[in-house]
Amino acid sequence: MAKVFEIAIDGHAGVGKSTTAKRVADFFGYTHINSGDIYRAITYVFLKEYGSTKEDFRKGLNRDQLGFLRTVKIENNRNAFLYKGKPCELRTDDVNAFVPYIAQIKEVRDHVHKIQNRLIRHETKGIVMDGRDIGSNIMPNAELKVYLTASAEVRAMRRFKESDGDYDDILAQIKNRDFMDTNRKHAPLVKTSDAFEINNDCLTFDEQVKIIIDKVMEIKKKECDGYL
Ligand code: C5P
Repeated sequence: MAKVFEIAIDGHAGVGKSTTAKRVADFFGYTHINSGDIYRAITYVFLKEYGSTKEDFRKGLNRDQLGFLRTVKIENNRNAFLYKGKPCELRTDDVNAFVPYIAQIKEVRDHVHKIQNRLIRHETKGIVMDGRDIGSNIMPNAELKVYLTASAEVRAMRRFKESDGDYDDILAQIKNRDFMDTNRKHAPLVKTSDAFEINNDCLTFDEQVKIIIDKVMEIKKKECDGYL
């Protein structure tokens, strides 16, 4: 069986990983998996079940909650995540605020890792997965690893323009998430030595997508040349 073509896209919050990954996946007819959405879905479930004690999530999960985690079943249906048959709300203020705390817990990462592996196993053609630890941990043998970056100010301004929030609040939240994602103990965001870095401060969305598509084409051409 031919190896599934894997593209890993890692980077900071608000850098446009997901929209880029989706466009690249659509171009090649591959499946797109937004791994941040899995962490968001788990966070949503915990807020739903233990919302009244949510401040405690900043310290981790207690024994009871770790036991509950093992039983959490999240179904994936056309890129929507369902819990008990209902769609998880992934982009509420609470989910935004608590997801980096939930995502730094080792047991949560192990649980999500299993979900990711299940999704990868189902693929036959190609997969584009975006997140923070995809190139380093989840798909270490990916044919292409992209590390997408932009300054915190540019990312905050983009978010600000598409929301009705306060710019300084958005910037502070982005900086906090950057700090937590890069400094956590388990699977922090890193640029692996074999990753191709794109800084999109001064790039349009289409330009950035084109750079990745061209890179994939180049890799595929090299693979084909190997058979000539
Ligand atoms: O990609 P997005 O910003 O939606 O991800 C939400 C959060 O999930 C991130 O801030 C990060 O804390 C966590 N995450 C992670 N590892 C991934 C993807 C997301 O820790 N592979």
